[in-house]
This record gives sequence, C-alpha cells and structure tokens, in this order.
Amino acid sequence: MPVLPLPHVPFEPIAPLTPPSPTSPLLSIRDLHVHAGATPIVEAVCLDIHAGEMVGLVGESGSGKSVTALSIVRLIPEPPMRIPQGRIDFDGRDLSALDEPALRAIRGEDIAMIFQEPMTSLNPVFTIGDQIREMLLLHRDLSVKAANARAAELLARVGIPSPETALMRYPHQLSGGQRQRVMIAIALACEPRLLIADEPTTALDVTVQAQILELIDDLRRESGMAVLLITHDLGVVSQYCDRVAVMYGGRIVEQADAGTLFAHPRHRYTEALLKTIPSANTPGARLPAIGGTVPAPGRRPPGCAFHPRCEAAIDVCRSTLPVLTDDDHQHACWNPVP
Ligand SMILES: Nc1ncnc2c1ncn2[C@@H]1O[C@H](COP(=O)(O)OP(=O)(O)O)[C@@H](O)[C@H]1O
Ligand code: SF4
Ligand SMILES: [Mg+2]
Repeated sequence: MPVLPLPHVPFEPIAPLTPPSPTSPLLSIRDLHVHAGATPIVEAVCLDIHAGEMVGLVGESGSGKSVTALSIVRLIPEPPMRIPQGRIDFDGRDLSALDEPALRAIRGEDIAMIFQEPMTSLNPVFTIGDQIREMLLLHRDLSVKAANARAAELLARVGIPSPETALMRYPHQLSGGQRQRVMIAIALACEPRLLIADEPTTALDVTVQAQILELIDDLRRESGMAVLLITHDLGVVSQYCDRVAVMYGGRIVEQADAGTLFAHPRHRYTEALLKTIPSANTPGARLPAIGGTVPAPGRRPPGCAFHPRCEAAIDVCRSTLPVLTDDDHQHACWNPVP
C-alpha cells in the first residue's frame, strides 16, 4: 500500500463526503444516560448516524466517548454501570430492550467495534487465521474450507501482504499496524452495517494511522457501512468525517456537519479545542493547551461543566446548564462564539 500523506488539514475542511440522507438514521441514540453507581458518567446524549456516514465523536480524555460507544452495544460493565434512561434504536430496533443473546447476535454481525490496540490485543496463543475463522464460523454457516478462503480474502482486502501465509502467523509476528488491520478484517468479517472505531489509530505512528483511516474510509464508501469514529484528533475528523459531535463532561456540547463546525465553531470548548490543533499554529511554536483538566464524573461543576476553564464564562454559566439548540448546528453555550 502506498505511504499516504499526513491527515492534518484542519482548516481546509472538505465538503461532506455523503449528502445528508433523507431516510431515517441507521443508529439513533436518544437521551442516553449512563451511571456508574449513583454517579452520572454520560448525560442526555443524542446522536444519529445514517448509512454510509462517518460521524466523529471528539473531546478530551475522560469526556465519556468510550462509555457512550460501549453503551450502544451494551458492553459497559453492568454493574457498576447502568443505563437508567435513554433509547438506542438500530435499524428500527430498540437495542436497550434486547436480552444478552440477541445483543450478542447484533455485535459482530450488524455492529462491529475496533479499539485502540492495547484494549483489543488479539489472543496471543491463536493464529490470525484461527481468530478470523472463529468470527466467521460463529456468525456464518460456512465450512472450514470456505471460512479459510474468506479469511484470506479479508486479509487481502485490509492490505496484508501474502494473506495465506499471514493466516498462519501469531499476533506477535505482526507489526502494530498489521495487527490493527487484522482487527479491522475481523470487524468486517460479517459485513457490519455500523463500525464503531474507538481511537483505532492512537497507538500507531502517523503514517500507519493515515493508512488505516484511508482503509476505513474506502470500506465505508464501497459498502455503505456507517462509521462512528471516536478520536481526540481533530485533524483526523476534519479529513474523514461528515459530521462531528463534541463531547465534554459526559454531554454533547456541539454537533454539526464537519465543514460548518471547523469553519465556525459556536461552543467555547470547541473553539478552545480547535486552537490546540498543531497545524493551526505557527510551526515550532508551543501548542496552546486548554488550561485546567476535564472534571471527573461526580465532580462536574454546576451550570456549564466547562465554566472553570472557559475564558468567555459569564454569571449564568456557573449556575445554569445550557441546553443544546434544536437546529442543524446544535450547541449548548450561554455565550457562544459570535
Ligand atoms: N467502569 C467504570 N466505573 C466508573 N467510572 C468509569 C468506568 N469506566 C469509565 N469511567 C469513567 O467515566 C468517564 C468517561 O470515561 P470514557 O468514556 O472512557 O472517556 P473517554 O473515552 O472520552 O476518554 C471517565 O472519567 C472514567 O474514569
Ligand atoms: S456556557 Fe459559558 S462556560 Fe460554557 S462554554 Fe459557553 S461561555 Fe463558556
Ligand atoms: Mg476512550
């Protein structure tokens, strides 16, 4: 596969890759709340993803992105976590009403997930072939021979050279980038309609990162698969995503199509995040960081959770929670960027 250029072009957003679909969303999250014990972790999250669309979910570490993603397929640790409120519809079915066997059938088959490598390390004692075949045999009525052929085909599709040989290899015999390609092959084994990619390239170097993102982008264009891409890298989002949701303190604070959000952020947190993108700054200059840290759940301040760090905070921000506007460019800010 050719070496691709770095993906950082945050202030030249491209037009949305897929025109907004007039059809109903493939995934629709409504008023999702996730608690750990009595502590709210994720609050009032609403998010739609249409077929063929790539939606970016961004925000600093600890903002609730992974918990939101894991809640979609109910992979949160229950207990201590639980979903006291909210509805998650996938292709018209309410996932929150499904029992564990029904959810298991949906995971992998309809909705696949890939994670940052440390969380997803492949099983070291089985070959790559064993692990792809296991997924295929679990969800597809295939002979072992057909599963082998399909596994090799999948490895070729994700750009692994000599797929037949690679099937006999163990995870430690592959590079980090190749292991992530294998994870994508496993995720794609059953042709999922939604891929949830949680920081899929964070552990990889920038060149391999670009190759993996190009691969995911190609796959969704070819198959119409929807993608939820979770990342803290706004450069990546500006290059690949049609739409962006920004999360802070367990809530979505801004959501718009990528071009609009990058050209004209409204929420002060988004504005601050955009200022931290490397290529938005003079080369060699020290990157501006957002002062302070993300509050831990249970220690979120009243009003807007960002107020202790916000240079534009006004009195109302400290006392009253701002609600999201109900339009194409949603934002929840008392003193938005004009
Ligand atoms: N099992 C758990 N029990 C209690 N708190 C948790 C658990 N998992 C995550 N959290 C907390 O939930 C918050 C959001 O976490 P997470 O969704 O992983 O953030 P992000 O993916 O945006 O970095 C963090 O403060 C984290 O400490
Ligand atoms: S609501 Fe207030 S504190 Fe929060 S981001 Fe907007 S201006 Fe800042
Ligand atoms: Mg995370």
